Order: sequence, then structure tokens, then C-alpha cells
Amino acid sequence: MSEGVTIALSKGKLLSPTLALFRQAGYSGYHVQDGDRRLILEFPDHGHRVLIVRPSDVPVYVEYGAADLGVVGKDVLLEQSPDVYEPVDLGLGVCKLVVAKPNGQTPIQRLSSKLRVATKYPNMTERFFNQQGLPVELIKLYGSIELAPLVGLADRIVDLVETGKTLKANNLVEEEIIAWSSARLIVNRASLKMKHAMVTEVLTRIKKQVTKGQLPKGARKGTRG
Ligand code: PRP
Repeated sequence: MSEGVTIALSKGKLLSPTLALFRQAGYSGYHVQDGDRRLILEFPDHGHRVLIVRPSDVPVYVEYGAADLGVVGKDVLLEQSPDVYEPVDLGLGVCKLVVAKPNGQTPIQRLSSKLRVATKYPNMTERFFNQQGLPVELIKLYGSIELAPLVGLADRIVDLVETGKTLKANNLVEEEIIAWSSARLIVNRASLKMKHAMVTEVLTRIKKQVTKGQLPKGARKGTRG
């Protein structure tokens, strides 16, 4: 058991800018290299440890208290609605969740049959189309969502767009923006009380970097939760 706090970080594109931000905040002492398969890292100077998990698992670790803190995209939080505190917008990994369609296809309003929508975000997608009064058939996928309309699996996709390159490369266009996302620091509710001093110290150090506007190099590129 670590003497400090446990922090769950999202692996993938968000990991490198997140670790850079923590380094700026004074948490360092380890190196992650390509091909590193370790799932737990230590910040030896502070006694804190870091868990490297899938973005969609970060809220689970934090809500259940297996991690005291976590870093995850707002897109994941909106999809899962976990019972956690969300005190800091890190400003990393800014992207948007959009409805997209093949270039030149009929706008949604004119389609007569039930729309098929492929996505990794079934809850947000269902909420969005319900609000629009449009009946949809959801198709849950786990990646390469842009492929679905190209092979007739779906009429629309709901997915993240950051640079827009993936949509463009697959001849898809954005139709509607559902939500904006960026990485958030989240906190387990009990940990904020039980480990108040340690959790607050991490929050303060990270907030200071974010307020100072000292986001790590590449922070606004290449991330999502
Ligand atoms: C994400 C997202 C889009 C793409 C958008 O996929 O789901 O496919 O990035 O980025 P862009 O607007 O900069 O092109 P990711 O790379 O995480 O892989 P995935 O398709 O396996 O989810």
C-alpha cells in the first residue's frame, strides 16, 4: 500500500501531456519509455503512485476508491456520469464530440427511416437524438468509428474530433456538435475527506500550473479521454 495518494491516469494520447503536467507540478523521479508495460509507477519523492488504465476505466477506479484521484476526458465523464468530484479542468486534450455523416449525404431531418448511429458513446448519443426527437438505432463500437458509414453499417457516427483529419481522410463531414471535452482532474469523495491534506496538496500544485497557463508542450494537441 502506498503511503501517499493513488492517481489513475488515462493511457493513450493523454498520458504524455498529463505526465508532463505532473512533472511541472513537482512530481517526477521516474521515466516512461515506449514499450513500458508497467501499470503502476511511483513518485518516489512524494510516496504517491500512478496507475495507468484505459480512459474509460479511470472513473471506475476513482469512484470505487481504488484511486484517490484521476485524469480523464470530459467526454468519458459525460458518458458515464460517475459519482466523483471534478475540481479542475486541465485544459489538455481539447476536442469535441460530434455527429458526422458522409460528405454530400442528406441532412438528418429529411431521412424518413430510423437513423443508424455508430458510436463509442451510446448514452450521450441516445440523449442527444432523444432531445432532437429523432428515433435512432445505436450501434456500439470500440474504435475506428469512421469506418461504419463507409461500409453501410451506419448512417451517422458520433465520435471525437480533434484536428478533423480522420473525418476528412474518410470523406466524412461534421453535422452537429454535441459537447466539448478536455481532460479533468477527478477526486474520490471519501478521499477528499480521509486524505484531505495529501489530496489538497496535489490539487493545489496542479491548479497552480493550470492557472499559470504553463501547460506542457503539445498540451492542446493529440489527446482525448
Ligand atoms: C480518435 C477519435 C477519432 C480521431 C479524431 O480515435 O475516435 O477517430 O481520434 O482525431 P482527429 O480529429 O485529430 O483526426 P483514436 O485515435 O483514439 O482511435 P480509435 O478510432 O481506435 O478510437
